[in-house]
Amino acid sequence: MFTISFTAFRSTIHVFSFFLILIFSGVLSDSVNSVPVVNDSLTYLWPLPTEFTSGNETLSVDPRLSLAGAGNGGNSTIVRAAFDRYKRIIFKHTNRFSSFSLLRGIKPVYDITTLRIVVNSEIEELQLGVDESYTLYVAKNDGQSITGDVTIEANTVYGALRGLETFSQLCTFDYSSKSVLVYQAPWYIQDKPRFSYRGLLLDTSRHYLPVDVIKQIIDSMSYAKLNVLHWHVIDEQSFPIEIPSYPNLWRGSYTKWERYTVEDAIEIVNYAKLRGINIMAEVDVPGHAESWGKGYPDLWPSSSCREPLDVSKNYTFDVISGMLTDMREIFPFELFHLGGDEVNTDCWNTTPHVKEWLQDKNLTTKEAYQYFVLRAQQIALSKNWTPVNWEETFNTFAENLHPRTVVHNWLGPGVCPKAVAKGFRCIFSNQGVWYLDHLDVPWHEFYTAEPLEGIDDSSQQKLVLGGEVCMWAETADTSNVQQTIWPRAAAAAERLWSSKEAISSGNINETALPRLHYFRCLLNRRGVQAAPLTNKLARTPPIGPGSCYIHTKWKGGNDSLILFENVNGLIINGSGTIDGRGQPWWDASCARHPQFKVY
Ligand SMILES: *[C@@H]1O[C@H](CO)[C@@H](O)[C@H](O)[C@H]1NC(C)=O
Ligand SMILES: *[C@@H]1O[C@H](CO)[C@@H](O)[C@H](O)[C@H]1NC(C)=O
Ligand SMILES: *[C@@H]1O[C@H](CO)[C@@H](O)[C@H](O)[C@H]1NC(C)=O
Ligand SMILES: *[C@@H]1O[C@H](CO)[C@@H](O)[C@H](O)[C@H]1NC(C)=O
Ligand SMILES: *[C@@H]1O[C@H](CO)[C@@H](O)[C@H](O)[C@H]1NC(C)=O
Ligand SMILES: *[C@@H]1O[C@H](CO)[C@@H](O)[C@H](O)[C@H]1NC(C)=O
Ligand SMILES: *[C@@H]1O[C@H](CO)[C@@H](O)[C@H](O)[C@H]1NC(C)=O
Ligand SMILES: *[C@@H]1O[C@H](CO)[C@@H](O)[C@H](O)[C@H]1NC(C)=O
Repeated sequence: MFTISFTAFRSTIHVFSFFLILIFSGVLSDSVNSVPVVNDSLTYLWPLPTEFTSGNETLSVDPRLSLAGAGNGGNSTIVRAAFDRYKRIIFKHTNRFSSFSLLRGIKPVYDITTLRIVVNSEIEELQLGVDESYTLYVAKNDGQSITGDVTIEANTVYGALRGLETFSQLCTFDYSSKSVLVYQAPWYIQDKPRFSYRGLLLDTSRHYLPVDVIKQIIDSMSYAKLNVLHWHVIDEQSFPIEIPSYPNLWRGSYTKWERYTVEDAIEIVNYAKLRGINIMAEVDVPGHAESWGKGYPDLWPSSSCREPLDVSKNYTFDVISGMLTDMREIFPFELFHLGGDEVNTDCWNTTPHVKEWLQDKNLTTKEAYQYFVLRAQQIALSKNWTPVNWEETFNTFAENLHPRTVVHNWLGPGVCPKAVAKGFRCIFSNQGVWYLDHLDVPWHEFYTAEPLEGIDDSSQQKLVLGGEVCMWAETADTSNVQQTIWPRAAAAAERLWSSKEAISSGNINETALPRLHYFRCLLNRRGVQAAPLTNKLARTPPIGPGSCYIHTKWKGGNDSLILFENVNGLIINGSGTIDGRGQPWWDASCARHPQFKVY
């Protein structure tokens, strides 16, 4: 009894807000000359597919949608698990039944009842450059055509996963008919990534992130079609991961509760693989490693020189070798990050036994830094890993780096052009535009960053594997990490996935921004704490009451804001200022967007 009246009470509120919205939109449309402001040609998919065509039909999707697997890999458990996950996302509102469903009357016939997934290859190995292409066809099953319903065709299960994500973004719950609809069908989409490496760095040393939080981040990465989680697991502040060969290393964790067991790490790798995401672990040497000495103080040159690690002892390299042997069992990805950045070697020269060793070997500290990095590379190579190193290694001794080295840019622009000119592969992460902890970098700088800038030769362009946005965690922990990553990481994700031509023409404030606003709301709907997009600083909360879909934007240091369009039907565009209570004042115009209906 209580439950029913409570539900009724909530419904009253919903009806009430619905009228409010009606009144509100009425006011808005009356107050200005009606000017259509939305570019109807925008497609609210993120990242934008390579090629697509759409039509003008609206199709309903059966909540009992069934999966028909075909091809050598069509019955893969990876595909089945993904189908179940996406069913939960797509049919969030239709899975539940209540006595009200009878009153509403259930629509008995659906246009789409089967999802056909054709996967040509049964090979499920997830490596760099795995084929992620797919085609997606969504059409009405008129009972005659054999190509009705939804078909995803891909060469690998990972292509099928990307196709499922795209399909889920075409599905919208319609609150009037209480069913899931696909607008603008039939859809024909042919898609593939521009770059094979589309990364996000997570730093679990500056702040520990619980396993469940890492899994949530992996889920959110799959929504933006990112495919590498660069796990910067250890740094000078803490050593949270278990290394069975050197069981005291994780004494360097902040506390005994902020740790990852080997089993935790394996679970993260497997969880990510089911979503088509590789984990690239990092052991950053010889700098950024002070925490190692908590468990094994001999790794420190002295108690006053705790970093870089002691270059003079073979023991140091024995520990690295043992760590990499253990980690090889956990991380199957072919790339392994060895760091090598920000190495200040001054205290090597002031530590007597290290200084003596340098003199014996006739090495400067700079040469000893090179010796350390190259010896660590040999260890990684001997374990069949391709070493990735931060750009300082390339900037300091490019000619001696192993030719398989992948150079990881971060300091600024112009590094990948130099690296690929020397035949190295490169990952773009220019900190000026792709560091998520730089809260003052707006979305459009993430969006317009171009990994191939300054590289004209097509064979050199191929050496750029892609790029990575970096979530350094000095000021990010579980309480705010997702809102610091999203939505700006998605701007980079589209840069890395979509064809350059498709996303570089026109004014991005008109072609990309409305879609990115919409994608932010999509992340929110799926439970991801993505922050407002056009706030003054990234991750800051909303500035006042309001809809996710009606966008406010800071203009400058003043309290002025611009209202953007609501892509889900009601379109508002105007400008104004907020008063002390955060109430907007505006001019606005209304229009309807064809792909999504007014609720
Ligand atoms: C709409 O978008 C298309 C594709 O992005 C572009 O070519 C066209 O110029 C845009 N139209 C307007 C009015 O902005
Ligand atoms: C839908 O598209 C078809 C084929 O392009 C066209 O003939 C028809 O007029 C369109 N219908 C509407 C309502 O726009
Ligand atoms: C996939 O499974 C279905 C039903 O379990 C079966 O009919 C079909 O032959 C299987 N296909 C392949 C390629 O194994
Ligand atoms: C240290 O390792 C190097 C390289 O493997 C080797 O040549 C050298 O003999 C070792 N030194 C000692 C004291 O074991
Ligand atoms: C030490 O190294 C320098 C430069 O690498 C070289 O010129 C010098 O001959 C070396 N000295 C000895 C004793 O090997
Ligand atoms: C898009 O908007 C931003 C912020 O208002 C502005 O800085 C930028 O110049 C605009 N870009 C274009 C292409 O108009
Ligand atoms: C804020 O905006 C108002 C109205 O446009 C203007 O008079 C004022 O100078 C602005 N203040 C600052 C600090 O920019
Ligand atoms: C708002 O609409 C006007 C035309 O009425 C247009 O010039 C302006 O670019 C639009 N602003 C945004 C942010 O879409």
